[in-house]
Amino acid sequence: MSSTADKGATKRSVTVTLDGSNRSASLPLVSGTLGPDVFDIRKLHGELGVFTFDPGYGATASCESRITYIDGDEGVLLYRGYPIEQLAEKSDFLEVAYLLLNGDLPDAKQFEDFHQGVTRHTMLHEQIRRFYDGFRRDAHPMAIICGVVGALSAFYHDSLDINDARQREIAAFRLIAKVPTIAAWAYKYSIGQPFMYPRNDLGYAENFLYMLNAVPAEQWQGNPILSRAMDRILVLHADHEQNASTSTVRLAGSTGANPYACIAAGIAALWGPAHGGANEAVLKMLAEIERPENIPAFIDGVKDKSSHHKLMGFGHRVYKNFDPRAKIMQQTCHEVLRELGIKDEPMLDLAMELERIALSDDYFIQRKLYPNVDFYSGIILKAMGIPTSMFTVLFAVARTVGWVSQWKEMIEDPAQRIGRPRQIYTGAPQRDYVPIGRRG
Ligand code: CMC
Repeated sequence: MSSTADKGATKRSVTVTLDGSNRSASLPLVSGTLGPDVFDIRKLHGELGVFTFDPGYGATASCESRITYIDGDEGVLLYRGYPIEQLAEKSDFLEVAYLLLNGDLPDAKQFEDFHQGVTRHTMLHEQIRRFYDGFRRDAHPMAIICGVVGALSAFYHDSLDINDARQREIAAFRLIAKVPTIAAWAYKYSIGQPFMYPRNDLGYAENFLYMLNAVPAEQWQGNPILSRAMDRILVLHADHEQNASTSTVRLAGSTGANPYACIAAGIAALWGPAHGGANEAVLKMLAEIERPENIPAFIDGVKDKSSHHKLMGFGHRVYKNFDPRAKIMQQTCHEVLRELGIKDEPMLDLAMELERIALSDDYFIQRKLYPNVDFYSGIILKAMGIPTSMFTVLFAVARTVGWVSQWKEMIEDPAQRIGRPRQIYTGAPQRDYVPIGRRG
């Protein structure tokens, strides 16, 4: 189903002349619904014999998408046209999941069917339990979920045909439903507690908290404010356009690989500290800084390029004004601490002081570096009792729906072809093989 609000792309032809040569080509200039126009350069090599060079893809649109829009200068994030602020306040994660996957908000019946579709798939095949025994107890939970999610393709053969729409839908349900169970079990395994089976009478976020925190010996008492905060964190992380992990999922998927393998690839890409691993890295950084008096020396350290240190939770490839998710996250952080009766949280005070100092420092001002979503999320999660090693896992739980939506959109796009970038070759020119005795 496509949204009533999206208009698709319009094209006009523009002649491009290469500076300093007589060569010119007529290239389509494509306008999307929002955002800057893009040159369609697919014919450039054929017509002019040149490629474009864009390491890190900062100036390249890799696909046409109708899912998420970011305006980095204005701090705007839209899911299917809806502002993130409205969704975070008024919607919930499963409704947002439906929206991302299907293009529009559901009516009551559509939502009930979707809810049923997800909850029916929350359990894992019993043999998957045995996988956990193969891991060391001190394995990072990201290592475990990378492996176990990839292994789902060995268990669910009836949803591997990417050309069958119903199989794609079942794979989507399975991934959205099972990743929280896989993640919670990774944590339970690390602390030696029994695995808790999912409870389908609970909401999505509440069930995840239940599987993380409950034990069979005791009655579990949830806290609606904390479940709501967790749900909001999931909404804020659900999708983010063509970021590194999503592009990884699309690239893997472009080869025809099955959805479970593609999502495992996305989890691997998310793990890095420049991406989803930043929330864990922020807490490590705050622990390292320890006291407000140490902030200036730390800031000097990150400004010194030879230190190879970054201010974690700061900066973004696209946001050059503010990250709208960070604003909501900061507000949620205060709500959670209030609910938990935490009046004085030294780590939050330290983070706020660090933010204040960085935002008034020329280095950060000139480079337009602002707090991103990960700056405050770690503090909330820590206050909720979530261990640091699970922070990036939680990001993966939320982002699974974005990855699946983007993967599905790509498979359904008739223009889709295998992802295969080119390069500027700067190695040795062609030369003849010399036998070992005649070298040197
Ligand atoms: N601390 C210090 N300097 C920074 C930082 C930072 N956090 N971020 C960027 N810079 C500098 C960078 O060194 C460069 O300086 P110069 O122009 O002197 O060479 C300039 O700012 C431009 O940065 P860039 O490296 O070109 O930016 P990028 O778009 O390639 O990288 C980023 C974006 C998010 C990877 C980077 O800002 C970073 O590593 N931030 C810290 C990690 C982090 O918080 N990541 C979470 C991102 S949001 C959630 C997610 O994507 O998962």
